[in-house]
Amino acid sequence: MIKKISDFNLDNKKVLIRCDFNVPIKEGKITDDNRIKESLDTINYALDNGAKVILFSHLGRVKSEEDKEKLSLRVVADKLSFYLNTKVGFISETRGNKVEEAISNMKKRDVVLIENTRFEDLNNKAESKNDEMLGKYWASLGDIFINDAFGTAHRSHASNVGIASNLEDVGVGFLVEKELVNFEKVLTDPDKPISLILGGAKVSDKIGVIENLVHKVDNILIGGGMAYTFLKAKGYEIGNSILEEDYIEFCKEMLVKYPDKIKLPIDNILAKSIDDDLGFYSTIDANKEDMMGVDIGDETVKNFLEILNNSNTILWNGPLGIFEHSSFSKGTKEVLRGIVNEDKTIIVGGGDTAAAVISLGFKDAVTHISTGGGASLELLEGKELPGIKVLDK
Ligand code: 3PG
Repeated sequence: MIKKISDFNLDNKKVLIRCDFNVPIKEGKITDDNRIKESLDTINYALDNGAKVILFSHLGRVKSEEDKEKLSLRVVADKLSFYLNTKVGFISETRGNKVEEAISNMKKRDVVLIENTRFEDLNNKAESKNDEMLGKYWASLGDIFINDAFGTAHRSHASNVGIASNLEDVGVGFLVEKELVNFEKVLTDPDKPISLILGGAKVSDKIGVIENLVHKVDNILIGGGMAYTFLKAKGYEIGNSILEEDYIEFCKEMLVKYPDKIKLPIDNILAKSIDDDLGFYSTIDANKEDMMGVDIGDETVKNFLEILNNSNTILWNGPLGIFEHSSFSKGTKEVLRGIVNEDKTIIVGGGDTAAAVISLGFKDAVTHISTGGGASLELLEGKELPGIKVLDK
């Protein structure tokens, strides 16, 4: 049985909260703070209930001393102070006197953020390899551990699994609870028909998802770079489009076994390279050998929307074109626009797809946008998340 934050008496307790503040930062500025905003309910709840809140997170991958400057969590502490409307004390170390003193001086309703847990990776990968002593040490700093880092739940690291293994009172925060409830519903008891939209560059990233869900969903609509390995498997010319040779056989097998379930683009936008300003339209059977596919075409959008409008549940992972390039984002946008105003359950996972939905202003029009890329994929693959499993005491 996994406890929730609301199951604990937090008053005057030192509550360690693992968040996922792994946010994109450009030139010292956070460019997408959705993960920070999504963590606020849990932090506010702990503060309102009299806790001393000690926050942990990783940021990026720390491989050298030089990485430390650009991967400091200080900017996140500033952003959090703004959203929480209270000063978040930033502790610029991950262990030692400074950390211990700051925590021992905390009063009820104080909040501090410890420096990037992956700074510990410079010490024999202590964080990423879940070093026993490190998990024990971090656990010793608090009374209760709340894991609210859904995006990191597929990792078995010291700051999630390590801390949780060394404390009796552990549970999930509101964000993790929301993520698990939404995924469990669509994976175990969806309102049918259910359609899965898969996009993004690589088939290899989505094989586990296809294998796990092909029996459970009614349709799999495939776009993005990954569609071209499927199209090649069907014998089409795909020019310079993304191809994963090693997966042609897998795609062939899927198309033979599930010919009515797997839907591929029938037209697309082609470009010489992804740096082109404009692409041009072509049906799939007229694709040129020196061009690459960069977006789905209008007829594909129409086909996909017909299927999606007859679905009650839609699960979406991966953009249908090169979304970050405005000339090649139309397919993703049109499909999104076509489904959001309908009365359906729409669950969006994966960083790029989530960013697409938010940047188009559809955040409140979908049922759930996952804050986890890898973690949500592993759930869709039917895997157990170690960061969650360890909380089941
Ligand atoms: C993510 O952004 O997917 C999570 O924060 C996990 O980050 P990682 O892939 O560096 O472990």
